Amino acid sequence: MNKQLQEYAKQHTSEESEALKFIVKATAEELQYDDMLSGRQIGTLLRLFVQTSNASQILEVGMFTGYATLSMAEVLPEGGRITALEMNTLYMGIAERAFEMAGLKDRINIIHGNARESCKELKDSYDLIFLDADKQQYPQYFKDLKPRLKPGGLLVVDNVFWYGGVLEKNDRKSIAVHELNEMLLNDPDMETVMLDIRDGLTISRKRK
Ligand SMILES: C[S@@+](CC[C@H](N)C(=O)[O-])C[C@H]1O[C@@H](n2cnc3c(N)ncnc32)[C@H](O)[C@@H]1O
Repeated sequence: MNKQLQEYAKQHTSEESEALKFIVKATAEELQYDDMLSGRQIGTLLRLFVQTSNASQILEVGMFTGYATLSMAEVLPEGGRITALEMNTLYMGIAERAFEMAGLKDRINIIHGNARESCKELKDSYDLIFLDADKQQYPQYFKDLKPRLKPGGLLVVDNVFWYGGVLEKNDRKSIAVHELNEMLLNDPDMETVMLDIRDGLTISRKRK
């Protein structure tokens, strides 16, 4: 029932562009794993956040093949820009082809390398940050990126359930994801909601 309803929810979410469909297809065909791809529901939710908050400066930590990046880039206002951090050139290759196909390459700045280091060097401030890279580093990413989030800005974090691991906390990733969940809950600067969509998605707004 739950699986059926998940599929029903997906089917009742707006259709993807051709370039986003290309990402889904190329990821499945060229990589052995496509389960890291954020997909239609989260991609569409991010687009709605960008449009309703008029976000123009966006940071994504962990781009993979560019699904969320392109979902947001397609609705960026004039002059808007997305910075996306990714360490794997194979993944970047698929993303770059899709960005080119969509004619949106100019709006996306990919920083290749270890995001743990590149995020410490960022100088800009962002209206929206999508955190979706190595889970063990989630608490450290939040410490480094909170100052980079503008007042009123949104932090969106994927995989906050870590496939249920946050309940048992038996491995390092689950412990780290749980730690971030607690940090956000207890941070008076952040107003947070955790949604039980897919593997859990948190949306947290920086109050000031
Ligand atoms: C779950 S996937 C991201 C999915 C993507 N946001 C989307 O919308 O499809 C996680 C990505 O983070 C990247 N990643 C993990 N650790 C990283 C690090 N330390 N630096 C840069 N990229 C990293 C992985 O290579 C992978 O592409």
